[in-house]
This record gives sequence, structure tokens and C-alpha cells, in this order.
Amino acid sequence: MLRIDTSAVPAAKLEALLPQTLEAHNKLQNKSGAGASFTDWVTLPEDYDKAEYRRLLEAAERVREQSKVLVVVGIGGSYLGPRAVNEYLTGDPSLEILFAGCNLSGDALQKLTNRIGNRDFTVNVISKSGGTTEPAVAFRYFRALAEAKYGKDGAKSRIIATTDKSRGILKSLSDAEGYETFVIPDGVGGRYSVLTPVGLLPIAAAGINTNALIAGAQAMMESCKTAKGLENAALAYAAARNVLYNGGKKIEVLASFDPDFVSMGEWWKQLYGESEGKDGKGLFPAAVSYTADLHSMGQYMQQGERTLFETFIRTDTPKNGITVETDPANTDGLNFLAGKTIDEINDAAYQGTKKAHTDGGVPCLTVETGVKGAEALGQLIYFFEYACGVSGYLLGVNPFDQPGVEAYKTNMFQLLGKPGV
Ligand code: PA5
Repeated sequence: MLRIDTSAVPAAKLEALLPQTLEAHNKLQNKSGAGASFTDWVTLPEDYDKAEYRRLLEAAERVREQSKVLVVVGIGGSYLGPRAVNEYLTGDPSLEILFAGCNLSGDALQKLTNRIGNRDFTVNVISKSGGTTEPAVAFRYFRALAEAKYGKDGAKSRIIATTDKSRGILKSLSDAEGYETFVIPDGVGGRYSVLTPVGLLPIAAAGINTNALIAGAQAMMESCKTAKGLENAALAYAAARNVLYNGGKKIEVLASFDPDFVSMGEWWKQLYGESEGKDGKGLFPAAVSYTADLHSMGQYMQQGERTLFETFIRTDTPKNGITVETDPANTDGLNFLAGKTIDEINDAAYQGTKKAHTDGGVPCLTVETGVKGAEALGQLIYFFEYACGVSGYLLGVNPFDQPGVEAYKTNMFQLLGKPGV
């Protein structure tokens, strides 16, 4: 089971914050806090629609049978989760998953098209509102591409929409065209939606074990609900973040030593940034990938402004890894590493980094996830979601809205002459 080490934060301070932490926890459990109508993700690992899930697995199988590429069209919470899980767990390479609609770059769209080439593809367009500009523009493009290649009728079985159950242009368009649709539940916002069809369909299509992912989330859901006080890992993390924030640490850096974790870092940044960054408050979430970033951000982490703390993600070292061989000539002087796996060296890098950063004045938290796999990842996802809800309530914000995201859209639409804006 996932564990957290918060020993960098004085225990007395965490204890002093416990009443407020429990109050925030109760708000989530009782649905009595700000934005409560968007907290259905709290019980989702148990409450998900089982019939729809079975249909989703069938659709994923169909995608695998009929295509070599799945183009996932979405942005923000409607793409970061599936991307992060697929990259972290490395799906079956016989289906390539490409992501579109997460930018407005014509060049990127052209490169994706070239990459698909002559291969058969399916499109999964994901948008809760159904009207977000970036995915809408990309979907218009890929719909046309699919219809040109497979004909209007043929394209129908190659376009799947994940959207609201009844509202929005994407839903009405899909119904009119006869595309299969999956539902993003009303009470689950984008950044909490990875365990809905938003994430589950592309993840299942990638051949990743979604049952194990859900089982992990379920176990963590139980733990978040029942573990007492600071033994509750999510409460301990939320409280530690709050103590550090109020002590002048305004930036949290999520650090992993696994290069597969990079997109998980992007998912985590959105989760915390969009949930907490409002009303002039909120930790700024940043993510680094070590050891690569020790050679770019390491200097700042060690000696830059002391307004940050670090949260390390640790997974158990795989037992069978590549080993450094003995070289009789030892011309590169590396024989002191002979017999060690690369992962053991990586572990030493982690221990050394944590000590150096701690000595350099950076409080370091550590999240131990256990053995890398779908179940442990399900735990980690739910842990971060739950801690984020508690953390947002501790901060005194509504962690489930994102009013600030609209501002750029209004300006952009005015510039583009959208009617009525
Ligand atoms: O977390 C969120 O709510 C946002 O990041 C949305 O997911 C993002 O803006 C995309 O919205 P939609 O799914 O409506 O296209």
C-alpha cells in the first residue's frame, strides 16, 4: 500500500493542523464543501457504471482489431490522464496512441497526420463540454480524414466520442452521425476524470489492465475513507503541503527518477494547479524528471531561492535490470559500479539527491508507491486526487472549479470574430 514520509515537516505542526484537516476530509466525505456537486469521483472506483465499463472494454478491443493507431483528441483533463497512464505503464506497442487537440499548432497536426501515414486509425474525441476550441478544431480535421479514407459510413465505426450524457455539441453531433458515445459523469470534473471513460477507453485500448487500475483506486479510496488522522496518507500529504505553504514554501516540485513518469507529472500539475491556483492563493506545482533534470534544475534546487519544497515519487526497484559489467582494463574507471544494476545506481542517485536537497534547505516529502504497475498507479492517482480535494479545502478555495480558464478564450474569440462574443 502507498506510504508517505512527511518527516521533513515538524510533527507538532501537522498535529496542530489536524482538526482543520479532518474538517476538510469530512467535507469531501459528506459532500458538504465548496463545489460538492463535482465530487462524485470520491466514490467512483466503486460506483462506476459497470454496464458501460463492459461496453468500453468491447470498444477498446474493437479499436485494437481494426486499427494500428488510436488518435485521442482532447485537452486538459480530457487528455492528460490517459496520456500519463499510457506512458507510465507502457501499453502494447501494436497500437500506437497519438494525442491531438491539445494545442493549436498546424505543424503538430501535420506531423501527426504524417505519423499515421497509411495505417488504419480510430479517433476517440473527448470533451465534457463538447465545445472546447482546441479539440473541436482537431476533431473536425480528423473526422474529415476518416471520412475521406473510410467513407462516411465506414468512419462511423472509427469515431468514438466521450462526452456529457446529454448536453453539448459533441453529443448532439455524435447522435446525429451515429458515433458510439461514452459518458463523462456529471459530478466528475475534467482533472478528476482519468478513471472515467475519458481515461479508461484509451488505456484499455493500449492493452493496460484497467481492472487492476480500478482495483488500486478502490483500495486507496477505502484507505482515504477509513485511515485515522495522520496515518491517512492523503491527509498527511495535504496537511504537510499546507504547513509548508504557510511557512513560505510557495512552490512544490514533484520529482521522479523514472523517465516514464514525465506525463504523470503533467497530469499532477494540472490537478493541483487548476484546483488550487485561485483567489490569489495556491502552491505553484512544478515537476522534474531525474536524473536528467539534476543537470538542468539541480543547481536551482540546491542553491536557488528557498521558497520551494520537493515531493519525491518512489517505486520499488525492479529485481532484474541491466547490470554494469566488469571491464578488466577499467579504462573508464567504472569498475566500482560493476555488478550493480542501473536501477541500484538510480536509487543511490535518489538517496544522494534527497540528502543534498535537504541539506540545501529544501524540505523533502516522499511518496512510496510500491511495485510499478497498474494497481499501484490506481492507488497513486486516487491518493493525489483525494489529497488535492482536502488540500484545496484547507487552503480555503473551491478545488473543483476553474473560472480563470475562460479569460483567454474570450480574448481569442474576440480576435477571431466569433459571433456573439
Ligand atoms: O479539468 C478541467 O476541467 C479542464 O482541464 C478541462 O478538462 C479542459 O478544459 C477540457 O474541457 P472539455 O473536456 O470540456 O473539452
